[in-house]
Amino acid sequence: MITVKDKVVIITGAGQGIGKGFAESLASDGAKVVIAEINEEKGKQVANDIKSAGGDAVFVATDVTKYGAVQSMVSATISTFGKIDVLINNAAFYYNITRAPFVDLSEQEWDRMMAVNVKGTWNCCRAVAPQLIKQGSGKIINMASASAFKGNSNFLHYVASKGAVISMTRALARELAEMGGNGITVNAIAPGSTETGVREKLEDILQKLPGDKKNTGPMASRILKRPETVEDIVGTMLFLVSDASDFITGTIIAIDGGSSLH
Ligand SMILES: NC(=O)c1ccc[n+]([C@@H]2O[C@H](COP(=O)([O-])OP(=O)(O)OC[C@H]3O[C@@H](n4cnc5c(N)ncnc54)[C@H](O)[C@@H]3O)[C@@H](O)[C@H]2O)c1
Repeated sequence: MITVKDKVVIITGAGQGIGKGFAESLASDGAKVVIAEINEEKGKQVANDIKSAGGDAVFVATDVTKYGAVQSMVSATISTFGKIDVLINNAAFYYNITRAPFVDLSEQEWDRMMAVNVKGTWNCCRAVAPQLIKQGSGKIINMASASAFKGNSNFLHYVASKGAVISMTRALARELAEMGGNGITVNAIAPGSTETGVREKLEDILQKLPGDKKNTGPMASRILKRPETVEDIVGTMLFLVSDASDFITGTIIAIDGGSSLH
């Protein structure tokens, strides 16, 4: 049976969108969740809503770009729950990014992207590693993106950052298996463009782009011609958190209605 009951799961960026959906679903299935979010108001709200619904959650204000803050979040998790079963590296610079040809992206935005999506993932992995190694068990789930397989236009900084997340997933799977006596796994989920209700629909953003770029929306390349939702991703996440996935490592699971098959 697939169960996540009593698993201690850190979810970065769980104040909204996919991470919030993960936190709510894990908590309702009996996991103890840590909302590691930079936005205090949103992070607290998610933790409070989970607790009001009878779940177990704690909010820890965390900026994943700052290693000291991530270390404090990890210490808070261990002192609250006594262990770490899973880290979900979900925080990203995403919903409010600039979508533009690569020559028009600012250096400042490029650096921010790499700081949150790439360095942030590394920071969280290196902060939890000592505890996972001590336990001889644990799982890391990184949020990649199908856009890294497809090489989508108009957000090169984001696509590049998710390419890095995919490569880090593979390398970390090797390193942590060795360090953790074969009890630590590292995998990634690569969603397609997912409607979370947070940002403007991608279809609408694309319609504002000039000329031939208008018809390159996510549905065009998808085998399953319908919008992707957070619920489409949750089942795979629960499986990866559970013991049922213990022998899977270094894998990138595309959840994109088949769009990266082309
Ligand atoms: N929504 C999609 O279409 C889609 C598609 C593929 C992959 N993804 C990936 O899934 C994950 C979640 O996507 P989403 O749509 O919910 O994103 P989102 O932008 O709506 O949410 C990201 C969350 O991360 C938080 N965050 C940002 N910087 C942070 C920092 N420095 N420290 C801690 N938290 C920080 C934000 O406050 C926010 O709550 C991301 O990794 C994203 O790249 C999303």
